[in-house]
Amino acid sequence: MSLDGAVDRREDTSAGNGLAAPILAPAPVLAPAPLSALRAPVPLSALRAPYGDRRLRLNPNKVHKPDTYEDVQSEFDPSIYSSLERHLPPSMLEAPRDAKLEFMREILARYLPEGDRARPLHKELYNMHPLSFFVPSFIGAIRENTEEGFRKIISEPSPGVYSFSMLQPSFCELLLSEVQNFEKWVAAAKFKTMRPNTMNKYGAVLDDFGFEAMLNKLMEEFICPMSRVFFSEVGGSTLDSHHGFVVEYGKDKDVKLDFHVDDSEVTLNVCLGKQFSGGELFFRGVRCDQHVNSETQPEEILEYSHVPGQAILHRGRHRHGARPTTSGYRINLLLWCRSSVFREMKKYQQDFSSWCGECQREKRIRQRQSLDATKSAFLRTTGSMS
Ligand SMILES: [Fe+2]
Ligand SMILES: [Zn+2]
Repeated sequence: MSLDGAVDRREDTSAGNGLAAPILAPAPVLAPAPLSALRAPVPLSALRAPYGDRRLRLNPNKVHKPDTYEDVQSEFDPSIYSSLERHLPPSMLEAPRDAKLEFMREILARYLPEGDRARPLHKELYNMHPLSFFVPSFIGAIRENTEEGFRKIISEPSPGVYSFSMLQPSFCELLLSEVQNFEKWVAAAKFKTMRPNTMNKYGAVLDDFGFEAMLNKLMEEFICPMSRVFFSEVGGSTLDSHHGFVVEYGKDKDVKLDFHVDDSEVTLNVCLGKQFSGGELFFRGVRCDQHVNSETQPEEILEYSHVPGQAILHRGRHRHGARPTTSGYRINLLLWCRSSVFREMKKYQQDFSSWCGECQREKRIRQRQSLDATKSAFLRTTGSMS
């Protein structure tokens, strides 16, 4: 598994909120929520295993020696973690203690009695209902499922950034009130929840509030058809896990988001509302790990203003950030879609010229140089012959 994004690199975000100028400051990888003391690289599978894999094994591994969890503050007896550890999927057994603990906590949370969970306000949001979630044009394009059909509803303001109308205003409203509802419950129950990711402090991981199955459907049935067409070279046709969350911007919330890349192959970013000004997204070209801090070319610069209900779809490796939200509140729904096959394959590759802007540039330079060399060799031979 690829290691990028497994480490909290918040310290790297120094500047990098570059305007039209080339961005030379480091672009950190925006990773999933903090696994408290997690510093060492961890297989991404350990952070968020594919949907179907996030469960315990029926039979304990009897030879495995579990860690001790006596110091863990929890509503359960800490010894339960040592017993549960023997039931972890084999790939998790050697993961750092914090990663194992987070994984087991997530599973245990599902066993909490109903009364200890946030009570859903709008139950209809937790299952996929395309007709009440999406605008007709989006549903039509997904049904048609052709590049031509998608092109009819999208605009591509800069190569690799696709924008289209997606969510019904009524769905945005319900989801906003649902988020508010479980935030109230979290505050009242004095529960500690995960931050949406390493850079955003305000918002919530929707997967932790019962939205995991619905968001998985959203990825498989509505995002995959598009990413298969537009992002196949970064795993767009093999997306198999997701991280779904909302982020909140405004006074007393996050104001802006520094320049970064996402820990995703494909990112869906939809504005839910409410009233706000500012908060534009800025994009600065797609880069592989090796070139993540290389200069921006003028043609890679894009500024995008959010409109509620409107989605943006881009590669996770498309460098971007968010300008300050100057008034009001802005809440966006994010779905980071991942492909474990792509991450595995990436380890064996050096040249990413099918999608990295800088790899492409280097390739063009190499081709020009070899063409020039051939030309001058040819001129030398013909010159010596005349
Ligand atoms: Fe991002
Ligand atoms: Zn590259």
